[in-house]
Parts: sequence; C-alpha cells; structure tokens
Amino acid sequence: MPPVVIALDGPSGSGKSSTARGVATRLGLAYLDTGAMYRALTWAVLQRGADVEDAAAVAAAAADATIVSGTDPQAPTITVDGVDVSGPIRSQEVTDAVSQVSRVPEVRERLVRLQRETIAASEGIVLEGRDIGTVVAPDAPLKVFLVADTNARAARRAAEQGQAEAAHVEATAASLQRRDAIDSSRTTSPLAKADDAIQLDTTHLTLDEVIDEVVRLAAKAAPALGGTTP
Ligand code: DC
Repeated sequence: MPPVVIALDGPSGSGKSSTARGVATRLGLAYLDTGAMYRALTWAVLQRGADVEDAAAVAAAAADATIVSGTDPQAPTITVDGVDVSGPIRSQEVTDAVSQVSRVPEVRERLVRLQRETIAASEGIVLEGRDIGTVVAPDAPLKVFLVADTNARAARRAAEQGQAEAAHVEATAASLQRRDAIDSSRTTSPLAKADDAIQLDTTHLTLDEVIDEVVRLAAKAAPALGGTTP
C-alpha cells in the first residue's frame, strides 16, 4: 500500500507547523516541514555568498548543498551538508531571502524530488508547505488549506518569538504580507489552494481545535488511519 499522505498548505503563520506536528503525533505519522527545506537551501545560498536576486547564481549555489530532514514530529531536524541549521534557518536574514530563493525553478525541482523521496520512504506522513496539495502530492487523500487573518497570524508569530509588543506585531504583519505576495504570485508552483482541498480558517480556533478537526477529516478521508467515520 502506498503511504497515506496528509497535505497541509497555507500562508505563513496560519498555524501549519503546530497543526501538522500535532496531527502527525496523534496519528503516528512522520512529519515534513517543507518550508524548513526552502529555508535551509536559502541558508546555504547565503553562506555561499550568492546574490538572491540572481536566479542563475541561486540555482548554482543551491545545486551542491545536501539537505537532510529528520521526520519525527516530536523532534524534527534539518541539516545542510551535515550542519544542524534548525536555529539559523529562523533568522531574519533567511526569512527575508527565502521567498526569492524559493521562486527559482531549479530549487523547487530539487526540493520537490527530495520531498517525494521522503514520502516514498515513509509509512504515512503529514507534509506542510505551500504546494503540497497542488504539486508535491496531488493524489493525497486529504488536503487541508489553512487560512487566518493577517493580524492573527502576525500576533502568533510574534508570540512565538517572545516579542508581543505592538510595533513588532505590526512589522511582522508587513513581513508576512510581503512574503505572501511573492509566494502567491511566482510562476512556478505558487501558494494556492488545490481545488479538492478543504479550507479551514483558524483565526478563532485554538490549536487543539484545529488538530481535532484535521484528525477528524483524516479519519474520514483515509479510514486506514484508524479513526471511525463520524
Ligand atoms: O513555512 P515557512 O514560512 O517556514 O516557509 C518559508 C518560505 O518557503 C515561504 O515564504 C515560501 C517557501 N515555501 C515554498 O515556496 N514552498 C513550500 N512548499 C514551503 C515553503
């Protein structure tokens, strides 16, 4: 039997990571944060001193970086050429450059291939990203597209960073909107809801409520996951 795939897409700060990890843990599935992979390649490109506005230079710099992702939802890991980059990929420098790097077709081709290999090696997996339901795993039995108000998303991100003051929330909202605009308008696999994805607005839901809902949808979409159809 092919592995069961749950595709979780949506814009930055919509609650994808916490939801995906919670769902994978509840259902005993592997977990892959594809955004972390784009961030890791961005880190590698910056380390190599390439200009992120120059697509050819980005493609060349990204070509020889080896990305390895650990898929335990309780302790996900990511390395570039054997170096743990889980901290550095969350830096502002990487955050500011990641949308430029992830619109380069060679970068996407490479990471999509790696993501499909990770799916094939698993017994079941939750993937979070922007193009999982549309490009990476179009046959996934469950596709969920998470959305939330920009202000709610910014407040969550700022709280995660331990900086809840208004000026920081405002700057975070502007940064989210800038990335959403680039991610949604790029030519190669833009952020988009698959036609058969279920849209879930998390603005007024707690994390547990969102996880419960996705687990319920998973049981319905793929009874092999153990739940009974409500
Ligand atoms: O989920 P995140 O904010 O860590 O993702 C970082 C960036 O990576 C995001 O701005 C767009 C890009 N990305 C992508 O293009 N495709 C994916 N499947 C996941 C992320």
